[in-house]
Amino acid sequence: MHGFHWHQNHLHADAVPVAAIAEAVGTPTYVYSASAIRQAYERLRAAFAPLDPDLHYAVKASPNHHICRLLGELGAGMDVVSGGEMERAWVSGCAMRDIVFAGVGKSDAEIRAALDGRYSPLREVAERFGAGDPVERGPVGLFNVESESELAAIARLGSELGIRARGCVRVNPNVDPETHEYTTTGKKENKFGVDADRIVELFDRWRDDPGIELVGLHVHIGSPVPKVQPYVEAIEIVLRLIDALAARGHRIDTLDLGGGWPVAYREGEVPPLEAYGAAIVPLLEERRRAGLRVCLEPGRSLLANSGILLSRIQHIKEGKDKTFIIGDAGMQTMLRPALYRAFHFVWPERWSGEPPTWCETPEVDGLAPCDLVGPICETGDFLARDRPLPPMEQGDLVVVFSAGAYGMSMASNYNDHGRPAEVLVDGDQARVVNERQSLAAILETERSPRLLDL
Ligand SMILES: Cc1ncc(COP(=O)(O)O)c(C=O)c1O
Repeated sequence: MHGFHWHQNHLHADAVPVAAIAEAVGTPTYVYSASAIRQAYERLRAAFAPLDPDLHYAVKASPNHHICRLLGELGAGMDVVSGGEMERAWVSGCAMRDIVFAGVGKSDAEIRAALDGRYSPLREVAERFGAGDPVERGPVGLFNVESESELAAIARLGSELGIRARGCVRVNPNVDPETHEYTTTGKKENKFGVDADRIVELFDRWRDDPGIELVGLHVHIGSPVPKVQPYVEAIEIVLRLIDALAARGHRIDTLDLGGGWPVAYREGEVPPLEAYGAAIVPLLEERRRAGLRVCLEPGRSLLANSGILLSRIQHIKEGKDKTFIIGDAGMQTMLRPALYRAFHFVWPERWSGEPPTWCETPEVDGLAPCDLVGPICETGDFLARDRPLPPMEQGDLVVVFSAGAYGMSMASNYNDHGRPAEVLVDGDQARVVNERQSLAAILETERSPRLLDL
């Protein structure tokens, strides 16, 4: 059970019928189940328990700060990839020391704010978000450094501010994670990390720098990683590097294994998380006992199956070979199918049969081939293509499953649609944790042209 189940012919999130949520806040709307998030968190923790890892939630997966807060209450730190995500994590109650800051394009302004809260862009308004004075907050716990140029920038700013930042260098191990080419991050042709054969000289060169202390290695090879073996290969490479660094007198206390831990978008399509734990724990257990701190950065594995997207059918169009179901959610709401041709299981909200198997062709009588599409003027605007679906009518609700990660975070205003609402369900309570964006809000920044005084 993913926190979502059919009861008396209607889909429920925990104890709440999702149709009632759609009635109350409209569509398209993302609905998250707090119980599913908690369950996913505990499952991941259990899979790696012998390593007692520090879990840093990858905020990019689903950045709503109430979701961050929920994960923070479970004990998670946060993994962020921009100054904006860092401020969001801090506003959600995460201590700066529990934040790891990755991302290939950190600007000076972002690095300054990560080191010293006087430079926070929220300095004047933090109180409005229930946060304290950023001046008091201290530096981030760890920078995951992606290049020597970035390393130099952090070192320079750290020295300027009189703060010695802690950094891990992200290793590019040149390992194929066997995932979509756009989410492959650990091969030599990708922009991420430093080539493995340059790591030792880099540590040597920056040894004793007053602005940054290099304390470990980071590796994130892709997302999702549907097999265990690429992790094993990448870990073997970074362990050899750790030994080489130790032999040269570098003190390496942290190994961050990144995210990419998979979830099943189709039933049974990936090994269970426990299989990843079973293969990885033995590689690291002894080093953990010797004091190496292990970090993980899960995003998708905590959120994907903890959220759904509700779309209301606007029109149904009978094509020659298939039916087009035109909902109010499209690529502006959920980009993954258009961007990666990602598979999401879709099904009507009202359903009286056995729960269907999540796959391309469920074995259910009376299905007809359909495309579930959105309102956007692009042929690539689809959520599901060539899928057998039960008969549905104009005004019905259709559900996109596994929508909790990289759904809302990639939503846009394309074709001037407001970003959708977000609702977090906990037991029998449902809270709007993000109001639907109004057209007035979209137009606001264009309201009055400002003459530049150049
Ligand atoms: C550096 C880093 N860490 C963690 C993640 C989270 O990955 P996932 O959501 O697959 O766990 C990503 C995602 O791309 C990432 O780039």
